[in-house]
Amino acid sequence: LENGLLRTPPMGWLAWERFRCNIDCDEDPENCISERLFMEMADRLAQDGWRDLGYVYLNIDDCWIGGRDAEGRLVPDSKRFPHGIGFLADYAHSLGLKLGIYEDMGNLTCMGYPGTTLDKVDLDAQTFASWKVDMLKLDGCFSTSEERALGYPKMAAALNATGRPIAFSCSWPAYEGGLPPKVNYSLLADICNLWRNYDDMQDSWRDVLSILDWFVKHQDILQPVAGPGRWNDPDMLLVGNFGLSFEQARSQMALWTILAAPLFMSTDLRTISPQNMDILQNPLMIKINQDPLGIQGRRILKEKSHIEVFKRPLSGEASALVFFSRRTDMPYHYHSSLSQLNYTGSKMYEAQNVFSGDVISGLRNETNFTVIINPSGVVMWYLYPIKNLEMPQ
Ligand code: DGJ
Repeated sequence: LENGLLRTPPMGWLAWERFRCNIDCDEDPENCISERLFMEMADRLAQDGWRDLGYVYLNIDDCWIGGRDAEGRLVPDSKRFPHGIGFLADYAHSLGLKLGIYEDMGNLTCMGYPGTTLDKVDLDAQTFASWKVDMLKLDGCFSTSEERALGYPKMAAALNATGRPIAFSCSWPAYEGGLPPKVNYSLLADICNLWRNYDDMQDSWRDVLSILDWFVKHQDILQPVAGPGRWNDPDMLLVGNFGLSFEQARSQMALWTILAAPLFMSTDLRTISPQNMDILQNPLMIKINQDPLGIQGRRILKEKSHIEVFKRPLSGEASALVFFSRRTDMPYHYHSSLSQLNYTGSKMYEAQNVFSGDVISGLRNETNFTVIINPSGVVMWYLYPIKNLEMPQ
């Protein structure tokens, strides 16, 4: 969507995967969906280095709505959000953050709260703008395909008409199977800044793999659609939660970065370990994810050895490579060369290991190299040319 927003993939924090629809603030006041939770996460984003690295979106998901007032306007649950959403937006803005909100194109949200129907779309867009919200995630439960086909473009127009820049995240394709001809990706890219293509992320490695597999299987369709202002969204990062090992957490981060995916954390920033913070706060990783060209990467090789290679072209003739192991035995010595990874021409390259920082210099296309990849782990390289060998002496 050419609204000037999200020229690089959005980065931030989204409540859903970790905090779900926990509304029991009596039993669990620290973790229930409430203004306290969002203010505490805002504090962490601002104070613990996240915001300054680009993690600026603080996004509310389902289960915030209390109902509609006499004029039909949405109101938050008054017990859990006593000061209202405008107050939370002001709080986020005062810390240099942006606030995202959630609604559903349908009669009800997925968890059964009031949705936005075709007659309510304009009013709801105006309400969000009046609260100074910066992003809307529009889910797709409890509606028909026909209603969604009218509703998503209608909401895009309604948001635009408010005059407030509001990034638009559409779950539409995920409710239509994610593929053409049911999904029209060029239309989506015209009306949405990002879109959920496929299933929800759950807290397990199996879910990371099944989502990754789907994105790879359909990369010929999905890869060309992405670009500045228009992103495929394979869903939230699990880093910091319970389901992934250290290697797997690194792998999700690396693979999502190759896919030019939004980096929405969904973890408890109050208790995250230094190790997981390092994964999420790796500056070179973030630089690659946020590359200004905004080209989504692809899987370029799948070996019989269960090693896969992913590549993303970057600005400055650089590229990122991820060597990913699906093995379950022991660290694997993978032998390759840049020419085997389809690099052509006669440049000399340097590769920086994104996790260790080690630099390998003097790489030519024909130079043989070995990377040692841990089971369900990755080795990730930032590769850039240092000398053009064709240059006159
Ligand atoms: C389905 C979405 O895909 C999830 O990300 C989350 O928003 C839930 N609905 C909330 O009910």
